[in-house]
Amino acid sequence: MNFKFIDLFAGIGGFRTGFERNGGSCVFSSEIDAHAQEMYRLNYNDEPFSDITKVDEREIPHHDVLLAGFPCQPFSIAGEKKGFNDTRGTLFFDIERILKEKQPKAVILENVKHFKSHDKGNTLKVVLTALEELGYTTHWQVLNAKDFSVPQNRERTIIVGALNGIKFDFSKLERRDMTSIKDILEEDNEAFEYLDESEYTLIENPKRQASGLIFVGYRNKKIRTKGTRADTLHLSRVHKQPNRIYSSQGTHPTLSSQESGGRYFIYHDARVRKLTLKECYRLMGFADEFKHIGSKAKRYNRIGNSIVVPMVEAIAKEVKVQILESEGSVEKPSKVMKQTSLFDFEESSI
Ligand SMILES: C[S@@+](CC[C@H](N)C(=O)[O-])C[C@H]1O[C@@H](n2cnc3c(N)ncnc32)[C@H](O)[C@@H]1O
Repeated sequence: MNFKFIDLFAGIGGFRTGFERNGGSCVFSSEIDAHAQEMYRLNYNDEPFSDITKVDEREIPHHDVLLAGFPCQPFSIAGEKKGFNDTRGTLFFDIERILKEKQPKAVILENVKHFKSHDKGNTLKVVLTALEELGYTTHWQVLNAKDFSVPQNRERTIIVGALNGIKFDFSKLERRDMTSIKDILEEDNEAFEYLDESEYTLIENPKRQASGLIFVGYRNKKIRTKGTRADTLHLSRVHKQPNRIYSSQGTHPTLSSQESGGRYFIYHDARVRKLTLKECYRLMGFADEFKHIGSKAKRYNRIGNSIVVPMVEAIAKEVKVQILESEGSVEKPSKVMKQTSLFDFEESSI
C-alpha cells in the first residue's frame, strides 16, 4: 500500500477515483445522501458513513490525506467580533476536529469558484486561519477543468494544507491541452434527443471565448413577455442558461448540481441535440465503466455535484511528490526500480 486517505462529503467519489489512481487507499468515507451512497457502494464496494457530524473523530482510522468537497456555509459574525473564528455549527467544524485529532500530513479542500468571495472573503479567511492554527501551511488557487484535458469550463477553489511548513506549489500541476466537446461525444445512436430547427435560433458569427466556450444560439422557449421590452425577447431567452446552445468545437459550461433535467444542448454536425447522461459523466472525467443507479434526475444531480477526476489526478500526483514523499510516508523507489512513467516503477534487472 502506498498511502492512506479519507473521503469526506464523498458524493460519487470523484476525489477518491483520482487519489486511488495515484496509489492511495481509502480508509474512511462519509456521505449523507442516500442516492450518492448507493452509487458509491456500487462503484467502490464500500459503505460510506452517513452524517459526518455524528462521527467520533477518535474512531476514524489513521490517514495521510484528508479530502473534502464540503458545502459552503457562512461562519458566525459574532465569533469574529469577539476576536475568534467561530466555526461551530458548520460542516467545516467537523473537518477541523478530525484534523486536530488525526493530524494527517495533507488536507485538500474543494469548493465553488466564488468561495473566495463568499461572505466578503470572510469564509475563506476563517478556513485558512483555522487550518494554520492546526499547524497547516496553506495555499489555494482557482483551477479550471478545461486545463486538465476535460472540455468543461468549470472553475473550483482548491485549498491545500500541509504540515511542517511545506507550501504546495500549484504551478507544478501537470496542465494539459484544451480539448473540445466533440472529443467526448458518443457514437450516433437512436437515444439522441435532437431539436427541430423550429425550436432554436442560431446567432451570426459565433466567437470562441478564452474559456473555450463557443455560444452559437438559444432555444426558442416560451418566455414571460410581460415587462419585456420590444425587440428584446431573444435576450431574455439567451440569458437563461438552460436555453443556451454551445458548439461541440468548444468547451461546455459548468454542469450544475441543480440541473436535474439535463438541459445541456450542443450544436454538432449542423444539428442541435441534448447531451446524453453518459456524455455528462465523460465531461467530468469519469470512465464509461463507472456504474449508474437511480433516476435520471438524480444521476444528473450527482454528476453536477462532483469534482472533475483528471483535475484531482493532477493534484494527487503533486501532493504525493511535494508533501507525502518529502515526509517519508510514501516509500520512495529504491535504486533497483526503474521509472516507466511519472509514477509507475518496475523492477529493473541488475
Ligand atoms: C459538493 S458535494 C461533493 C461531491 C464529491 N466531491 C464528488 O466528487 O462527488 C458535497 C457532498 O456533501 C454531502 N453532505 C452534505 N452534508 C453532509 C453531512 N452532514 N455528512 C456527510 N455528507 C454530507 C452532500 O450530500 C454532497 O454529496
